[in-house]
Amino acid sequence: MAFAWITVAAVASLSLRGVDAATTPPGSSPTTSPYSNSTKPGLQLTTDANCTCYRTNSSTANYFSHHSFFDFRSMGQYVHTPPILQDSQANINAPATNTFFSSNNWTNMWTAQNWDNGALMKANNSDVTGSDATLYMVNSPNNIYIEHNSDVLGKREVATRDTPTYMVMRTARLNAFQTSAEIESSSTGYRFLSVRMYARTIGAPGAITAMFTYRPGVNNALNSVQESDLEIRTRDPPTRVQFTNQPSWNADGDIPQATRNVTIPGGNRWNDWAHYRMDWTPGSTTWYVDGQLASTITFQAPRDASQVMFNSWSDGGTWSGNMSTNGAAFLQIQWIEMVFNNTDAAYMPKPGGCTNMCSIDETPVTGTPVLVASGGRSSGDDDDDDDSGVSALSVPVVTLVVALVLCFIQF
Ligand SMILES: *[C@@H]1O[C@H](CO)[C@@H](O)[C@H](O)[C@H]1NC(C)=O
Ligand SMILES: *[C@@H]1O[C@H](CO)[C@@H](O)[C@H](O)[C@H]1NC(C)=O
Ligand SMILES: *[C@@H]1O[C@H](CO)[C@@H](O)[C@H](O)[C@H]1NC(C)=O
Ligand SMILES: *[C@@H]1O[C@H](CO)[C@@H](O)[C@H](O)[C@H]1NC(C)=O
Ligand SMILES: *[C@@H]1O[C@H](CO)[C@@H](O)[C@H](O)[C@H]1NC(C)=O
Ligand SMILES: *[C@@H]1O[C@H](CO)[C@@H](O)[C@H](O)[C@H]1NC(C)=O
Ligand SMILES: *[C@@H]1O[C@H](CO)[C@@H](O)[C@H](O)[C@H]1NC(C)=O
Ligand SMILES: *[C@@H]1O[C@H](CO)[C@@H](O)[C@H](O)[C@H]1NC(C)=O
Repeated sequence: MAFAWITVAAVASLSLRGVDAATTPPGSSPTTSPYSNSTKPGLQLTTDANCTCYRTNSSTANYFSHHSFFDFRSMGQYVHTPPILQDSQANINAPATNTFFSSNNWTNMWTAQNWDNGALMKANNSDVTGSDATLYMVNSPNNIYIEHNSDVLGKREVATRDTPTYMVMRTARLNAFQTSAEIESSSTGYRFLSVRMYARTIGAPGAITAMFTYRPGVNNALNSVQESDLEIRTRDPPTRVQFTNQPSWNADGDIPQATRNVTIPGGNRWNDWAHYRMDWTPGSTTWYVDGQLASTITFQAPRDASQVMFNSWSDGGTWSGNMSTNGAAFLQIQWIEMVFNNTDAAYMPKPGGCTNMCSIDETPVTGTPVLVASGGRSSGDDDDDDDSGVSALSVPVVTLVVALVLCFIQF
């Protein structure tokens, strides 16, 4: 399980800051994408302000009202790898590691966690709490930082402010405890989304790194949790990734329909950079790696408004396993992008339905949308008229039909 417990206190302290999520961090001014230009010609780069909806590419298109992009690739001014704090209370009390992570651009959207699993360990009832931790774990903002992407440097080169960077989420094993990293969306109102990260996981066995949605169960009970997970276990082969709609076990044992252990398509490995995408839509969750379909699960697909989270952790329980003392593992992320709907008042759909339809898939510049259609006309793509004029209202019906079909395929 991707493990986001004790979020209640954190959530209660959050306020909605009323900002549209289309905030772009500094140093993220659209530069030419080094990744791909595999797009249809003629689509016009645009801004979020000019998009009234976003269409995602998948077997059935889905439509979303909002877009956010967090780009960690040119943050040379924030590079600083903080030493691992040896004391658990110091981890809990640690401040943000740079001024970006304490700025509104970041905190409006994300909250770095500092909860610990002391109460869960004391409860000692994994069927109810979902945790069979054997090790004290603390989350710390100190484990979330910006580092140079030194793979791009030759042996003799020295990193400069212009050297590409990424965000790191670190988990490390000390003698008496594990220190971990988790960011949670400030809003609990996400209801359907397509979330992506360009990331890799490296380091010692005994950690989990994850991108997931989370809605706590009633009284934090495992049996009513709603959660879609993309998880990497660092003790698993680097070709394997795990997808789950929680809960994946209960007092009677494992719930095999809830989870899939998948070979990463295209021969990629999680210790190399890959594009991970999770689409949570009505009735199903679908995962893609490097643009290829990896799995769909309709069973227990989350229904209600949820948070979005990323983490890197270990607690000596059966899922993560134990990390050796002085070991560490790292989730390194170049960027996070999301198109979404959100039930909070701050995120009303934009007026005009899909009059200006945009795409974050068909763009040559990661993070910058292209205009796909406006006023019912498609731009730049003649072969695409089947969906260019589709009313977004018909989408849930189509999605439902596809969900039902997938249901049949699955069983
Ligand atoms: C926040 O975002 C705005 C708009 O993109 C930018 O001008 C500003 O420099 C950013 N501030 C920080 C601290 O990142
Ligand atoms: C993508 O397109 C841009 C602008 O047209 C171009 O400068 C860049 O070299 C292209 N990148 C690749 C990888 O082809
Ligand atoms: C905004 O959308 C309109 C179509 O409604 C288009 O004509 C215009 O070029 C777009 N502007 C930008 C900056 O993308
Ligand atoms: C947890 O419960 C089990 C029995 O269910 C017991 O054997 C074990 O000692 C308990 N551990 C703690 C730390 O209380
Ligand atoms: C997934 O499958 C691989 C290959 O069989 C195995 O090594 C790994 O332990 C499995 N992971 C989980 C979480 O079951
Ligand atoms: C969506 O578009 C991206 C970028 O062109 C491509 O890599 C990916 O395979 C497409 N995915 C689907 C599901 O069509
Ligand atoms: C982790 O180590 C503890 C002892 O410190 C042990 O009780 C527990 O079974 C181990 N967990 C796993 C999953 O091996
Ligand atoms: C997102 O909201 C828009 C506007 O209400 C709606 O048309 C669309 O179907 C929603 N998307 C999903 C996946 O539910």
